[in-house]
Amino acid sequence: MKKTPIIIDCDPGHDDAMAILWALASEELEIKAVTTVAGNQTIEKVTNNAIRVLTKARKLNIPVARGAQEPMVRKLVVGGALVHGDSGLEGPKLPECGFTVSELRALELMVKVLEESQEKVTIVGIGPLTNVAELLITRPDLKTKINEISIMGGGTVGNWTPAAEYNIFADPEAAKVVFNCGLPVIMSGLDVTQKAYVTREENERLRGQGNELSVFAAELIDYFSKYHYEVEGFPGCTLHDPCAVAVLVHPEIFDSKQCHVDVELNGELTTGMTVVDTIDYQKKLFGKEVNHNTKFLCGVDREKFVEYFLEAMKKLN
Ligand code: RIB
Ligand code: CA
Repeated sequence: MKKTPIIIDCDPGHDDAMAILWALASEELEIKAVTTVAGNQTIEKVTNNAIRVLTKARKLNIPVARGAQEPMVRKLVVGGALVHGDSGLEGPKLPECGFTVSELRALELMVKVLEESQEKVTIVGIGPLTNVAELLITRPDLKTKINEISIMGGGTVGNWTPAAEYNIFADPEAAKVVFNCGLPVIMSGLDVTQKAYVTREENERLRGQGNELSVFAAELIDYFSKYHYEVEGFPGCTLHDPCAVAVLVHPEIFDSKQCHVDVELNGELTTGMTVVDTIDYQKKLFGKEVNHNTKFLCGVDREKFVEYFLEAMKKLN
């Protein structure tokens, strides 16, 4: 099977960790690099976490490069202390780092992978989009080597403010660059990720699979789900970031609509909001052409999502 090369840009983060594991288990994908961005925790912590997750999965040959320690123009708002804990990956026991961080910065590693790849690369952006925006701004010539950009972020609801989801809120200028870069964007926003949840019973089935990484994923969910049950009152643990990987390997389980999305930068109440036009108002009202720049995911077959997730974790040994 021809594998799609991917770069995962992330801020581990429990759900980032599960997204990485799902990508590792997917024979359709090949992780060429993991780059880190400050978000859930500081750049030091999320970089350390990314290496420890790959060490846990015994994948010591995937380069991890450290990226932006703060957003493009705004101050960093660390988003994960309440949700992911002080380390950014509280809960499961993690191994020490089994390898050192790349000498290259995230941007340099992204450029290297794109320049060397024979195939077009898919970028999976599951934290604030600072690194991805920097790549698009500084090396627009490399857009020809990018297949699409699959992000977790945004939505028609918020989870950091009433209007804004955290990844977009953390660096709205970067997100605006990504949505307007002209490449296909797949948006796993809260409209779909809040439906992609794992129940307690399903998490026990995951743990019961018995292999080390299924147990590890179940322990990630044990910790990560506390916030979703106690604060958000959800019926399960929402797997935000894994949606951005799952849609690449199981697109058929998602409902989506091709539409225009842009990002608010200046709203007193709405900064960081993804403005999702599912109606094409400008076209209907004024006949203006609307740029359907985004595949907006609006639903998922939750049971199939969970079954595929458990199947992927079971494959990891
Ligand atoms: O709002 C959810 C997003 O913020 C996820 O990517 C999670 O890891 C945090 O970064
Ligand atoms: Ca994340």
